[in-house]
Amino acid sequence: MILSIKSVARKLWAFGLYPKSGIASFLSKCGRLPLCHYEEKRLGDAVREKIERREQNLSVGWAKFGKVVRFKFCGVSLIGFSLSEEEINVQQFYFYRSAQLLREYLNELKALNFQVPTKKGFSVFEPGCNCGGLLFNFADHYGAKIHGADIYAPAIKSAKRLDYLKEADFECADVIQSQYLKKFSDRHFDIVFVSSHFTHIMHVVELENYISELKRISSTIICVEIEEFAGRAPMSFYLKAWGFDCSVKDDITYGHFSH
Ligand SMILES: C[S@@+](CC[C@H](N)C(=O)[O-])C[C@H]1O[C@@H](n2cnc3c(N)ncnc32)[C@H](O)[C@@H]1O
Repeated sequence: MILSIKSVARKLWAFGLYPKSGIASFLSKCGRLPLCHYEEKRLGDAVREKIERREQNLSVGWAKFGKVVRFKFCGVSLIGFSLSEEEINVQQFYFYRSAQLLREYLNELKALNFQVPTKKGFSVFEPGCNCGGLLFNFADHYGAKIHGADIYAPAIKSAKRLDYLKEADFECADVIQSQYLKKFSDRHFDIVFVSSHFTHIMHVVELENYISELKRISSTIICVEIEEFAGRAPMSFYLKAWGFDCSVKDDITYGHFSH
């Protein structure tokens, strides 16, 4: 009960800090209703930047550049406003990806014998956590001690702001091409949670070493990724090769690794 109050309080806090992100997320969902139309336009060429970064063996995967959003009803424009880089990350990775989504993920992972630990204060680390949208749910609904890292500074800035009780650890770091993970002892975290992160780093040459490091620092890795993406081999193919149990449902791959 206290745990779910924490999550409602966080939503209100987030809305107070980022009202435009909350409204844009709501309008994007309303855009699926009859006669309604939601559109958005990026203020930079995010696709071209992604391609360039991939070619340079660099990480990708954040919602970069500001954008303008517009909501129309019966073809008449009712509302339009712009969002900063920080605001679009909160829209996409906090308001849009809900606790319900995480619960669905965890239910699917149950079929792979993954149960959320019941011991108080178990630890969860998410590499590529963005603003902590899914990660906060482990603290708010399951009482976990959470730690997140992301390469993208505006995302970590908002994660720290959303951490209204100042009980989480967030760091801005490149978790792959740096010594960042070395500071954690073997099995340091009960869970490493990976969501929509491997998908964006499959091209980096350090990938295999990175996966070994994630295994070293965790008791369990759970992962949720898109099965088919940008012409690469299916994600379940890679996860199986890395020793994960996995299943695919509705184009989403669920994976689980334990020692
Ligand atoms: C698509 S987002 C997913 C965010 C979050 N995991 C979720 O599912 O809501 C991928 C995240 O991975 C981060 N990322 C990509 N490469 C990274 C790296 N080398 N080190 C740390 N974070 C990275 C991006 O900045 C981005 O926030």
